[in-house]
Amino acid sequence: MKKVTTSTLLKMKQEKKIITALTAYDASFAKLFDEQGIDVLLIGDSLGMVLQGADDTLSVSVADVAYHTRSVRTGVERAFVVADMPFMSYATPEQAYMNAAELMRAGASMVKLEGGSWLLETIKGLNERSVPVCGHLGLTPQSVHVFGGFKVQGRDDLQAENILEQAKLLEQAGIQMLVLECIPTELAGKISANLSIPVIGIGAGPETDGQILVMHDMFGISANYMPKFSKNYLKTTGDMRQAVSQYIQEVQEGSFPSAEHSFN
Ligand code: KIV
Repeated sequence: MKKVTTSTLLKMKQEKKIITALTAYDASFAKLFDEQGIDVLLIGDSLGMVLQGADDTLSVSVADVAYHTRSVRTGVERAFVVADMPFMSYATPEQAYMNAAELMRAGASMVKLEGGSWLLETIKGLNERSVPVCGHLGLTPQSVHVFGGFKVQGRDDLQAENILEQAKLLEQAGIQMLVLECIPTELAGKISANLSIPVIGIGAGPETDGQILVMHDMFGISANYMPKFSKNYLKTTGDMRQAVSQYIQEVQEGSFPSAEHSFN
């Protein structure tokens, strides 16, 4: 079994093969997802919401993410493992270096940071210190209180132009992958077409280079709330392995996300 690496993901973008991704937080689900052929597993700080029951991701610590990264790494043979840097763990470049080192030691092969141009020095520094970086733009959940809620971003022209600009700057600074969350399909398509690195969408329509969902949303077991951009694959299949397999198939053939799961 050939391990997925940054080179694999870049090649997939170049060959227009759609990348499949899910969040994972423990070894058992990581193994199940890996066996079904998922390309990327993210230990998201969404764990604050789906595992710890918080209203947002802000209470998550580096130790929390490191703990779950260690567990996920144990279950994975093929998939590429990305760990989220939680709120305030990369407020300065020095903080980012120390905290990224902890996540890489726990088993991550890349770390993900939320934000735009204020991160350029940090991204360059992480790269120079051998830490691959994934960016995250659009609805960045760590900024939920700045946005005034979990709201779709980039709907007006100025905001859309700004997100595109930030994406280009992040790529120039050295990110090797980008997550776009909750932005209109057209903008996500434009950003994906303008970047040479893989762009993974969540609530960003079908025109990105790949898709990610929070695993609890994909199984339809998130407490109280099902985001519009997600789909309950357990309901349609009745079996966890089949649910994952169906998700992977629909993403690869381009039937998920449909317009019903996207924003304009
Ligand atoms: O924390 C998370 O799970 C994420 C995904 C929504 C991309 O950042």
